[in-house]
Amino acid sequence: MSDEFSRLVRSRRMVRAFRRDPIDRATLARIVDLASRSPSAGKTQGWHLVVLEGDETERFWGTTMGDETRERFRWKHLLDAPVIALSFADPQAYLDRYSASDKSRTGLGDSLAAWPAPYWTIDASFATMTMLLAAHDEGLGALFFGVFNGEQQLRDDLRVPTHLQLIGAVALGYERLPDATERDDAAFSRGVSAGLPRLSTDDIVHYGGW
Ligand SMILES: Cc1cc2nc3c(=O)[nH]c(=O)nc-3n(C[C@H](O)[C@H](O)[C@H](O)COP(=O)(O)O)c2cc1C
Repeated sequence: MSDEFSRLVRSRRMVRAFRRDPIDRATLARIVDLASRSPSAGKTQGWHLVVLEGDETERFWGTTMGDETRERFRWKHLLDAPVIALSFADPQAYLDRYSASDKSRTGLGDSLAAWPAPYWTIDASFATMTMLLAAHDEGLGALFFGVFNGEQQLRDDLRVPTHLQLIGAVALGYERLPDATERDDAAFSRGVSAGLPRLSTDDIVHYGGW
């Protein structure tokens, strides 16, 4: 395993405090280009990003976070992220791809219910993960997070086709580090979950069966 890859994976962390500095589109394009090389079932590539930049990100926060929650929100510099990328899976693209002559015998083109696992979610997740690593490699911070409120209004507002499945949001930007007076500020704290112990390979691997 190369040192470079190992270091990249080991040093990636979800970042929840950002500077407002913009990300240029060429940087974003390099990140998405790498992510587009992720594997996908039948090379369907049913993955889309809706990208909000700068002041447009307020359309996301204003819809998904109420005023009260925002006032109490611990990671206040998350809202400074210059890019919010919404990651979508396209289930219909899988039905279309698996209806093609080389795949139709699988029967998977007939109905989403026929699939043993939601490959559209899996592929969009693989691509989103690659995006997190590519962003880190570009010197950017990133947070993948769930959209728990206001999804329908957000979709309407951003004219997202109804058949797309929202995987989650990725905040992207340059990490904001605390200055000397901010060291104990909760805005720079890590999530509780991140402090949980990582499973060992022995916990994960079941050689020869469970
Ligand atoms: C599917 C998924 C959903 C997540 N949702 C949230 C979220 O809503 N809010 C948040 O702050 N972090 C969220 N996270 C980040 C996790 O808390 C984080 O990845 C985990 O604690 C490990 O920390 P690390 O990625 O910094 O190593 C999510 C991560 C994943 C993979």
